[in-house]
Amino acid sequence: MSLHLDHIKAPVAVEMEEFEHKFRASMKTKVLLLDKIMTYIVKRKGKQMRPLFVFLSAGSCGVINESTFRGASLIELLHTATLVHDDVVDDSNYRRGFFSVNALWKNKIAVLVGDFLLSRGMALSLENKDFHLLSIVNTAVQQMSEGELLQMEKARQLDIDEAIYYDIIRQKTASLIASCCAVGASSVAASEEMVARMQLFGEKVGMAFQIKDDLFDFGEDEIGKPLGIDIKEKKMTLPLIYALSKAGWLEKRKIISIVKNESEKPKKVKEVIEFVKKSGGIGYAKDAMNRYYSEALELLKELPDSTYRNSLGELVKFTIERKN
Ligand code: IPE
Ligand code: IPE
Ligand code: MG
Ligand code: MG
Repeated sequence: MSLHLDHIKAPVAVEMEEFEHKFRASMKTKVLLLDKIMTYIVKRKGKQMRPLFVFLSAGSCGVINESTFRGASLIELLHTATLVHDDVVDDSNYRRGFFSVNALWKNKIAVLVGDFLLSRGMALSLENKDFHLLSIVNTAVQQMSEGELLQMEKARQLDIDEAIYYDIIRQKTASLIASCCAVGASSVAASEEMVARMQLFGEKVGMAFQIKDDLFDFGEDEIGKPLGIDIKEKKMTLPLIYALSKAGWLEKRKIISIVKNESEKPKKVKEVIEFVKKSGGIGYAKDAMNRYYSEALELLKELPDSTYRNSLGELVKFTIERKN
């Protein structure tokens, strides 16, 4: 898998390497406990797809420069902050193949660590007066909180439908990937029209990205985070929403009752997963994912041909074929 990503990274390999140093430097702190946690986070780094989207988008639209680097750090800092908070919200103890921050240091600390990362990202942009980048990213951060809260509202009421599901994932995930591409373009002074197009491209990729993430939850492969946790947390995602829409009222009532009252029981969660599989929910979600994938690729065609653009196309493919 990493080999595959290495290949995609090729046109910006030097930039990605330099980015890692800058990213680490942006987390500097004199507070010993915080420094220890920052070191832990950097060690367990993720796939770093977002910075890659920033650099490849920038290269596709112009010449990568210092503000592109700051944009990439800003976004990875915010992404990291939201993951630390997300694991508190989802009560999850496992992330990137190891203990989550809340699992090791408890929720109180994880909340503050997330806040620190968020404000370090903002500081980086403010110190350099990257207001155009900050404004793109700020919209995404706001949408992410709104998306997470809409999701929680729906988890309480269990009245989610397909349209609301798309709203949720657009806000909680696609908005940040959209801003990766917009930030990349904006950092190289692309036209407003170009920035908007890259933003739309990123949004399509982000939708496919989250559908893929939601599909993982129904599988059995080791992905470095818990499986079956969505149902446990009463989060109904596309495969389940579709399966329920096809079910008779009796079965529907039974499944909803499990999600509502027995989602803590692994055996019951398995039953829901089996129901989704038997109803064709997995295939339906894959089709939806592939539609977003194709729409994203269509938008890419409008960019001038370059190695950056080609890699961007491969990164979109990686988004829907990745193993974690
Ligand atoms: C996880 O994103 C959060 C979601 C939006 C599903 P990634 O899968 O990109 O996380 P890392 O950074 O690689 O761990
Ligand atoms: C995505 O939410 C993370 C954010 C947008 C903050 P999930 O809860 O679905 O993501 P994972 O599966 O824990 O990474
Ligand atoms: Mg969550
Ligand atoms: Mg989560």
